[in-house]
Amino acid sequence: MNFNLSEEHLMVKDAAREFAVNELLPGVIDRDNKQEFSNDLVKKMGDLGFMGIMVNPEYGGSGMDTISYVLIMEELSKIDASASVIVSVNNSLVCYGLQAFGNESQKQRYLSKLATGVFVGAFCLSEPEAGSDATSQATTAIDNGDHYLLNGTKNWITNGGRADIYIVIAQTNRDKGHKGINAFIVEKGMPGFEIGPKEDKLGIRGSDTHTLQFNDVKVPKENRIGDDGFGFKFAMKTLSGGRIGIAAQALGIASGAYDLALKYSKERKAFGTEIHNHQAIAFKLADMYTEIEAARHMVMKAAWDKDNGHNYDLSSAMAKLYASKVAMEQTVEAVQILGGNGFVKEYHVERMMRDAKITQIYEGTSEIQKIVISRSIIKS
Ligand code: CAA
Repeated sequence: MNFNLSEEHLMVKDAAREFAVNELLPGVIDRDNKQEFSNDLVKKMGDLGFMGIMVNPEYGGSGMDTISYVLIMEELSKIDASASVIVSVNNSLVCYGLQAFGNESQKQRYLSKLATGVFVGAFCLSEPEAGSDATSQATTAIDNGDHYLLNGTKNWITNGGRADIYIVIAQTNRDKGHKGINAFIVEKGMPGFEIGPKEDKLGIRGSDTHTLQFNDVKVPKENRIGDDGFGFKFAMKTLSGGRIGIAAQALGIASGAYDLALKYSKERKAFGTEIHNHQAIAFKLADMYTEIEAARHMVMKAAWDKDNGHNYDLSSAMAKLYASKVAMEQTVEAVQILGGNGFVKEYHVERMMRDAKITQIYEGTSEIQKIVISRSIIKS
């Protein structure tokens, strides 16, 4: 068993770190305040290969493995979790879904633009009453000859406003339950497709989240992904990989907050000495470091499972459950170590604490991960 990163992995990690420090850090507080993320930054991430990390170079991707993806996600998330969620959704939920399950014509039309950041993708599963209970899709796609007629509402869609390509999950035959669900590629600008106002969120405020409305949108038959009825399994398989990305995001948020807390503890003095000399702070740092390392091992194991062709439904759900808990708990600790300064925006950790919360909610809440984990271990 080898726990060391390869030369290539270290180079990828360094490249992501350099980009995050030089390009993301300078405007991160402003983007959080204004709830914006420029197309220019998305383009730069595309130029560096971060928008199609695991996509085959034949389709314009970087052709890297899941370990590289996790390393990039961690480094970006240490500085700006809004940037990393744009990357994660594009890579895990859109590019992976198309590469693994799209047909050749769909890959030719969409994948190379998505993998290079020319296009941005969004994944539309959640609805007002089908967030966790994903089989209860109210959005319908009725077979109408050469096209499907798409009607419904999707909620909390990451990249909802900025995306060009939307993978939309919809019910085509209610009588068939989850086997009557399909996934469709919908392009921005198709008549009847409306983007609702941007949500005003607690965290990851730089990334845009919208409600989407589909009113009699004509989706060509060739835009269905996979065989008829494959949509629910498509969503589940795609989300399993997505959970590795969000676990890595949570890991990055936690370790970014830890780095700042450690640095602060060496600079700030109280009772005549740097605060890390007080056991109250030293023990907090010890717990933070231990918890973050444990999360890192779980995230890496899930990525390794995926790279080695093993089933990763269980390891990805466990990694997301644990890393998101670590992110939430350890960002709170970081704020505590910084004290009054921790509560002030310019010190960054309050943003990290706000950003951490969503990792326990999207791509399946912590409770959903426990359903996946318990079913898997009981079955085995
Ligand atoms: N791979 C392949 N097939 C799978 C699967 C997987 N990982 N998980 C389930 N399936 C299959 C099952 O085998 C079953 O098929 P058969 O009937 O042929 O055996 C079928 O799918 C139905 O499975 P279940 O009976 O387990 O379905 P369920 O209704 O009990 O739901 C669930 C299971 C795990 C709770 C699921 O609904 C779920 O994951 N919900 C959460 C959805 C989610 O993550 N939403 C987040 C939205 S996306 C997002 O957040 C993106 C973003 O913006 C960042």
